[in-house]
Amino acid sequence: MSRILLVADIHSNWSALSAIQEDFDACIVAGDIVDYGTNPIPCIEWVRKNATVAVRGNHDHAVAQRVAARSGAGFRALAAATRPVHWDLLRPSQMKYLARLPVMQQVEIGGLKILVVHGTPRDPMDEYLREDKSAWRNRLEGLDVDLVCVGHTHHPMYLDLGDTQVINPGSVGQPRDGDARAAYVIIENNEVMFKRVTYNIEESIKNMRVNGIDRWAIELTEQLLRSGGHPDSFRGTEADAQ
Ligand SMILES: [Fe+2]
Repeated sequence: MSRILLVADIHSNWSALSAIQEDFDACIVAGDIVDYGTNPIPCIEWVRKNATVAVRGNHDHAVAQRVAARSGAGFRALAAATRPVHWDLLRPSQMKYLARLPVMQQVEIGGLKILVVHGTPRDPMDEYLREDKSAWRNRLEGLDVDLVCVGHTHHPMYLDLGDTQVINPGSVGQPRDGDARAAYVIIENNEVMFKRVTYNIEESIKNMRVNGIDRWAIELTEQLLRSGGHPDSFRGTEADAQ
């Protein structure tokens, strides 16, 4: 039997990613390895080493293609503040790795047919879709898979659509469901386990200072990470982010 670790939306937060201590036979990464945090290198190298399958998120794409973040507030401003740090830090091979990640992957692990995409099959990197069963049914029409693993919303989600289950593990490096702990999923023996782990948020914030990010962006990150992105303290969606 395979034990699968599913992670998404790491967002250059190495303190959060390194806090996940699980044994696994296979690892699925549903996109957004980078942006928002300031430690992309260990995050990318971890994915390169451990991922059985990984797909490209909208932020991986924007960093790899050197797309300047649009000006704005909230998440968009935070991406604008942290993206240039990535361009300073990343080596060509790491930029190439992000650029070459497929936007959609279908694999079979432990007898399960799994589709991996960051957003939805209709718009693999960018579509932001929460718990809307009929919309998901529509997006999965014609696909013969047992599991669809997604990211993008930073909210854990489990949708049972009969033949297919849609799983979003939530975000490792920037949770937005009001729980500040790093989120991930373990799939084993046909059981889907949503897990959380406390990590060193102080270190993530300290690393923002080290990398010369503006004070407002550090304060915004601090508020976001400490609150787990609770809507009362931080408004906006991933859809605003680029
Ligand atoms: Fe994300």
